[in-house]
Amino acid sequence: MDFPIFHLDFFGDRLLIAVIAVIHVIINHGLAVGFLPLITLMEYRGYKATQNGFPEWEKWDKLAYKFMFVAFVITTTIGALTGVGIWFSAALISPASIGSLIRIFFLAWFIEWIIFMLEVIFIMIYFLTWKKSNKDLATKKKHIIAGAALSVFSWLTMAIIVGILGFMMNSGSWIEQKSLLTGFTNPMYLPQLAFRTPMAFVMAGSVAFFLTFLFLRNDFEFKKIVLKNIAYWMFIWTPHVFFAGIYYYSLIPDLMLTNLPVAVATQAFQQWYDSLLYYLIAAIIVSMISTIWFSLKPKRVPVFAAIIPILVIIITMGTFERIREFVRKPFVLEDYMYSNQLLLDDYKIFQNDGVLKHATYTSTPEVTKDNMLEAGKNVFDITCSRCHTHHNVNSVVRKFEKLFSPNGEPLDKQKMKDYIPVMHKGRYYMPPFPGNEKETEALVEYILSIQKTNVNIPGAQVNGVQISPLHKK
Ligand code: HEC
Repeated sequence: MDFPIFHLDFFGDRLLIAVIAVIHVIINHGLAVGFLPLITLMEYRGYKATQNGFPEWEKWDKLAYKFMFVAFVITTTIGALTGVGIWFSAALISPASIGSLIRIFFLAWFIEWIIFMLEVIFIMIYFLTWKKSNKDLATKKKHIIAGAALSVFSWLTMAIIVGILGFMMNSGSWIEQKSLLTGFTNPMYLPQLAFRTPMAFVMAGSVAFFLTFLFLRNDFEFKKIVLKNIAYWMFIWTPHVFFAGIYYYSLIPDLMLTNLPVAVATQAFQQWYDSLLYYLIAAIIVSMISTIWFSLKPKRVPVFAAIIPILVIIITMGTFERIREFVRKPFVLEDYMYSNQLLLDDYKIFQNDGVLKHATYTSTPEVTKDNMLEAGKNVFDITCSRCHTHHNVNSVVRKFEKLFSPNGEPLDKQKMKDYIPVMHKGRYYMPPFPGNEKETEALVEYILSIQKTNVNIPGAQVNGVQISPLHKK
């Protein structure tokens, strides 16, 4: 609306953010937030062993260093790139919502940035001074303290961002009293943090199991000791995942069901919602069985089997993120801004005047007989393109065909026209149509016209932009 519309017509805009974000979350939780404290504890274990005169200290230290090497390489490359990637992709696809979030959470993000810088400094110190720290016990102690500080900073960056993610799902009392504090202390904040924290620890434990099998192939005695210690870690954290997961899960329906206008949508949601519980239970069972198996019968475990708990946890985490995104729809900022980036408060004006009149970037500020298709394309860009492509992922044409012409009959213009103004009632995750009657008509004409073509229609990044004549002054 106020920004040129970037659009990926093949992949879909939503999927771009989702893929980058899910990779980032898996690396952040599994190899930073959860893994760094585990590595520090392993190093501490080696330190304690030296103090007590046990010879295996060096083995603990070497293994912890190898783990840290993996964590360092992946978090500072793919982890950091996907972190920045979330910003780039979200700012391209949803600039208005990112703009609002920055205004609301400026201070929180500023503090997060400082903590992130400290995290980067500490990861450098911790990884690069590791070998030198083996000089004597006093230096080693300082090194372990650096590892502990790194672990705390890593958790803190997540703890701040989760406040913002929670706000997007449920803005709580912020609507009445707009302040950073009311936004940050939203009802979804603590349940999400309570769930993500032990989840990160369990993910890290699964990664540690796998790396132990990978790195300690021949040293059987030591491998057994390490696996037993990781098993303790898993036994401590897995129940937390379960209880926090149930806590989080129990908070979703109350919020959602009040929002759900129709039974069909309830069922669709119910399936999603139940899948979270099934994955959660499956993840807990797999994680417990593999923990017992890996620690009691390590000789019988092939390396590839050690990947299974990692995969199950990745699927659970992906489902969790999907549900989180699903639950907040049709909003991008709950009760304030719809996913099409338009504010709830502006809807009355748009539905009356038409969205095109108020759009900065449109070649047609008004629908006329002569510009029907062009205006329809502009309406599609503004009102549907954040979630639909023309012909590919979540294709708008296919959606209408599935709805109104399951047997291939031609699409019925009138049915489409009647559907659009009430589409949010049938599918509550879609925002209401913000345009007026003429714009509905133009949109329908446009969708019918592209039904016959099969080409991808890219966004402003390829087609360039045109400023609305009404806004040129
Ligand atoms: C916030 C994202 C979002 C926006 C904006 C959006 N849609 Fe949808 N729409 C969806 C999703 C998600 C689905 C369902 C996909 C599925 O499960 O198959 C859907 C489904 C549909 C369906 C099929 C409905 C059914 O009952 O099967 C139609 C038709 C449709 N959209 C048209 C539109 C049109 C036209 C616009 C623009 C005016 C639009 N949508 C805007 C997300 C959106």
